[in-house]
Amino acid sequence: VDDSVEELQRRAAPDPQVIRLGGGLPAPEQFPRAPLARAFLRALDDAAAPALQYGFPEGSARLRRFVADSLQARGAAVDAGEVIITSGAQQALAIALEIACRPGDRVGVDRTTYPAALDLLRTRHLLPVVNGDESPRRRAVAAAPDAAAVRARYCMPALGNPSGRGLDLRARRGLLAGGGAIIEDDAYADLRFDGPAPIPLLALGRERVFHLGTWSKTLCPGLRVGWLVPPRRHLARALRIKRDSDLQANSMAQAIVDDYLASVDFGARLVRLRRFYRQRAARMARALTRHLPSWHFCMPQGGFAIWVEADVAADERALLDAAFDEGVVFDPGSQFRAGGAATPLAMRLCFSAVPADALEEGVRRLARAWRRLGERPRMPLTPALSPSETGRG
Ligand SMILES: Cc1ncc(COP(=O)(O)O)c(C=O)c1O
Repeated sequence: VDDSVEELQRRAAPDPQVIRLGGGLPAPEQFPRAPLARAFLRALDDAAAPALQYGFPEGSARLRRFVADSLQARGAAVDAGEVIITSGAQQALAIALEIACRPGDRVGVDRTTYPAALDLLRTRHLLPVVNGDESPRRRAVAAAPDAAAVRARYCMPALGNPSGRGLDLRARRGLLAGGGAIIEDDAYADLRFDGPAPIPLLALGRERVFHLGTWSKTLCPGLRVGWLVPPRRHLARALRIKRDSDLQANSMAQAIVDDYLASVDFGARLVRLRRFYRQRAARMARALTRHLPSWHFCMPQGGFAIWVEADVAADERALLDAAFDEGVVFDPGSQFRAGGAATPLAMRLCFSAVPADALEEGVRRLARAWRRLGERPRMPLTPALSPSETGRG
């Protein structure tokens, strides 16, 4: 992520006057604060105090069982002993990349993808190339000519960030048909608006897929608890890397999540969350259609954000600055593209952590900033977001 963009986002963060349509944060009012507080106190009450003690690198047995049960319910043959509890999905991703790739390798990524994954690839001297897997038409134009030579493919089949869309059957087959390891990031899988998480790629390629997930989106990111299910032959190595890196995931955080999951109906919570975020998505979509009718977007199938593209070659940085002056910030589209391209102009607009009224006002401010930039030369639409596919909200 560009340091100057991060600097601006940091400046905006504490300012209550600025509406933050970026960041990809869960809604704070959805944090189950009282149940988490009770879980914390119960964890402290245990005389042996495991929550304050060292544990083992693989993490809490009950959390591993919970993850294995959830994945089994989705059709994946996973034993609790094959799950590693990690410090968030981010650490799971780092471990997977360390095992699957060597510096200089090419790694397939979606056309738009999670910026911290791109950062990690760069830090590891790995070269991101586009998977070209979202549609046959896109594959024809966007896939790297020698995409078959990628060492691993990083993807979000259940629900993409920032696209807000899952991969269709054809794209999933395409991923499995290619060679190399698959790193399946399931961070948003439980937040599809249409219901429970779909069958993971893990179920179809148990020995090739590194599957990672997290409670950051469905519970809270501050506890930093996620998981990794590596291919079985890599389990021992993954555990060694985990131990070398931080010995184990935070005992207290694991104890809280464990107690919380045991004391609530988590499935019912997911149903409520899906409804909550679906309503916010609809609200933002209406505001975009009303205030920025010339911009294009696909209605998200879940998650926290709408990916928006305008078929123009505008100055992304100038728009970000103008928006900040108007009192709104967003995530610039270049952060999500493997090559860092800023054209056509695109952005991720997060509806997740913004109250409904502020959502409308935020989009109105964005529209004002856009008008301030004035007319810009038009660029052709990217093939994947032609008007016929976007439905314009
Ligand atoms: C797609 C995706 N993967 C992984 C992560 C990291 O999640 P965690 O908070 O569990 O490290 C995020 C967080 O934004 C994400 O959006």
